[in-house]
Amino acid sequence: MTHSANTCSPSKELIVLKLGGSAITRKDGDHLLDRPLVEAIAKELAGIDSKLILVHGAGSFGHPVAKRYGIHQGYRERGQLRGVTETKSSMLQLTMMLTELLADHNVAVIPFLSSSCMVASRGRLLRVDTEPFRMMLDLGFVPLCSGDVVADVETGFSIVSGDQIAVYLAERLNAARVIFGCDVDGVFDSDPKMNPHANLIRVITPRTLSEKVRSIGESAATDVTKGMLGKINESVSLVSVGREVVILNLRRPGNLTRLIQGEDIECTRFIPDSRGPTA
Ligand code: IPE
Repeated sequence: MTHSANTCSPSKELIVLKLGGSAITRKDGDHLLDRPLVEAIAKELAGIDSKLILVHGAGSFGHPVAKRYGIHQGYRERGQLRGVTETKSSMLQLTMMLTELLADHNVAVIPFLSSSCMVASRGRLLRVDTEPFRMMLDLGFVPLCSGDVVADVETGFSIVSGDQIAVYLAERLNAARVIFGCDVDGVFDSDPKMNPHANLIRVITPRTLSEKVRSIGESAATDVTKGMLGKINESVSLVSVGREVVILNLRRPGNLTRLIQGEDIECTRFIPDSRGPTA
């Protein structure tokens, strides 16, 4: 197996890409990867000349089993230990499938277990050992980790989302941007899966955030729009220190490459006020 020559270059910008579970897994059954989509993404990633960290979500691999055992509620009773093992096991399967597919397309991927290097407090990341990420990035590797069940100082264990991990790593490792790859084009004023007339919100800044959120409205906030707002809320501190967050559709071929080449694609950009339209 040969890997692309993503050699050590301190001047290359770092991008953290979240591979959303709803985009990379299929909903028609547990433990099904959307293989053609992941292959297309892998081809694009092999051609990207930036340092990259990948964080994948759970989709049909982690959410159903985690929900069944109430893992998100933290430790309640011994029976949940089995659920943690099952959740971890399905996330590991997904990580392995992604690792193999990415490696087959010459992406120098190196898997990390979030549960082995992260500690949370009530579901919020408290500590992450970022040193191995930094060192492997400098060698030209593409670290891959996932949303996961991690040890929690308050609740025993908790689920930390890939969104939170992506933003945390971007902050600590000075990434220029975070890209949230989803199965819709970005943040809409209502759920685009339910409403064909939903409008894509192209630009959000910390200053315009509350007005944009109000335009979605409580009653219109479905799981999809809530998930999108979660990504935005997670990113406020990152954008406030000058970085950019993009929410885009991974199911549109070429989107990643075009974005990174500076093209104006259909997506939502969450950018600092100083670069916003009214600045
Ligand atoms: C969830 O990760 C991790 C587990 C359920 C163990 P995410 O919250 O990032 O997953 P997606 O992207 O929403 O599927």
